[in-house]
Amino acid sequence: MTQLDPISSDWLALREHADDRARTVTTTDLLPPLVRSLDAEATSAGGVPVLCIDLGTGTGANPRWLMPRLPLAQTWLLVDHDEALLTELRERLSGLNVPWEPVASDVAHLGAVLAMHRQPGQPVLVTCAALLDLLDSATVEDLAAILRDAGAHGLFSLTVDGTGTLDPAGPLDDAVQAAFNDHQQRHGHLGPDGVPALQRALGDGVTSTVHVTVRQTDWQVDAADPADRALIERLLRDRAAAVAEQVRRDGTDLTEEPQEPDRTAPTTSAALTPQDVEAWRDDRLVAARDGALRLRVGHRDVLVMPSA
Ligand SMILES: C[S@@+](CC[C@H](N)C(=O)[O-])C[C@H]1O[C@@H](n2cnc3c(N)ncnc32)[C@H](O)[C@@H]1O
Repeated sequence: MTQLDPISSDWLALREHADDRARTVTTTDLLPPLVRSLDAEATSAGGVPVLCIDLGTGTGANPRWLMPRLPLAQTWLLVDHDEALLTELRERLSGLNVPWEPVASDVAHLGAVLAMHRQPGQPVLVTCAALLDLLDSATVEDLAAILRDAGAHGLFSLTVDGTGTLDPAGPLDDAVQAAFNDHQQRHGHLGPDGVPALQRALGDGVTSTVHVTVRQTDWQVDAADPADRALIERLLRDRAAAVAEQVRRDGTDLTEEPQEPDRTAPTTSAALTPQDVEAWRDDRLVAARDGALRLRVGHRDVLVMPSA
């Protein structure tokens, strides 16, 4: 469990279409084996509905995407530690004819949630989107142990992997990305190590009782598209604010006298100044407003299946 900044529901709404587009690979590569395996397990358990648990559900984007794509009897628990976000679920999930209930809980209590709600022999799918980077390594190790012990399936979508490109590229892009990745790992969060940490905890499918498949599910966004432009502008502002905070933190940590950055050396996160970050943000925002900026933001999906 780690300290977390609240996530705003307008950010979740802005990102949803980029998430949906990125999940084309999820649909083609990961859903078919998942559905086949859950279907077989549900049939041998006498047709009982699959218990689907969405961790860090926010405003329910992941169940909204996944419910209609699972041609199975299903019942959902939508888990989040932010009760304010859970209050939006009723409106956001209206029209979906699938039983669900909100659960105000930290992911760290998944074992108790499962024990309270699972019927004997019931197949389980544990899922999430855009969450693993926000967890710490102990929580991910517990999550992996629960998956193994419960013989559960897992679909962990859209975890940032710390890579990204801007087109056209700028001289500070790599330093900004590096500083942003450092910022994501504050308070012990895994940040870009979210997927590798889960793979390590699961034993990577080599010695363990689970089979793990990973696919790249990158955002590809283009400021020429007005919906993407709104997302890009927000991302640039939020990223610059996070990087500025990281630069301040790195500066505070310095024990030596501050020095002029060496402009001839390759730029690292520690070499950025607050003025660099502002200049980067303003330059990229102008390009975005002109519809002349494309971004790739690296994400990964992980499918976990109990070995037959
Ligand atoms: C980036 S948002 C993603 C929300 C949603 N899955 C989506 O794709 O739109 C992460 C969500 O996880 C929740 N969250 C983060 N850490 C959590 C934890 N340890 N336990 C429960 N919820 C958590 C946050 O409150 C937030 O709603």
